[in-house]
Amino acid sequence: MRVAVLISGRGSNLRSLLEAAEAPGYPAKIVLVVANRPDAGGLEHAAAFGVASRVVDHRTFDDRAGFEAALDAALAEADLDLICLAGFMRVLSAAFVKRWENRIINIHPSLLPLFPGLDTHARALDAGVKLHGCTVHFVNEAVDGGAIIGQAAVPVQAGDDPQRLAARVLQAEHRLYPHCLRLLAEGRVHLLEGRSQIEGASDPGAALFSPDLSA
Ligand code: GRF
Repeated sequence: MRVAVLISGRGSNLRSLLEAAEAPGYPAKIVLVVANRPDAGGLEHAAAFGVASRVVDHRTFDDRAGFEAALDAALAEADLDLICLAGFMRVLSAAFVKRWENRIINIHPSLLPLFPGLDTHARALDAGVKLHGCTVHFVNEAVDGGAIIGQAAVPVQAGDDPQRLAARVLQAEHRLYPHCLRLLAEGRVHLLEGRSQIEGASDPGAALFSPDLSA
């Protein structure tokens, strides 16, 4: 499976995908990294792993249609099967998403459908949830609204602030995203009536309880 990763910033999730894809037998190959900002730190990860990168700076276009046309052109050259959004901070138009239907996935730092959008960690703390986490999902026209592929739950701990919670969630992101990409590349993710089913996955018997049941 030939994959492009779209980033806007530091690219730690990109790095986790690049590392995973280096392992022998990993079924996906990162062939292109595209950043919408020339100063995106993640571009250095692409260079370090010898992966081609392009900058399509949204600020140099009059409107979103122009930006997305340039993005499409950059992606078309790479003969892709899938686009992974990894901290990509531009909302893609319905037309773009339609062109790449079921071929764009994203990682979001909450247990969707809770807390779509920004500032998820502060909002989770405000809401007082005991479990927070991250989600890998298909991208559709609704922001953070597509079918869920995988989720990781992370306990909220006493004394957490948004930064501390974000760091704990990020560790889970770095494990979840390569795992979900592997499932997709192995052809084990099936969409049924807008929900995903993972072929060969057993029931999640080891679900995470917080506080733990012995407390
Ligand atoms: C991650 O928390 C991701 O879930 C969100 O943006 C952040 C990107 O971090 N969409 P990084 O650039 O991958 O380090």
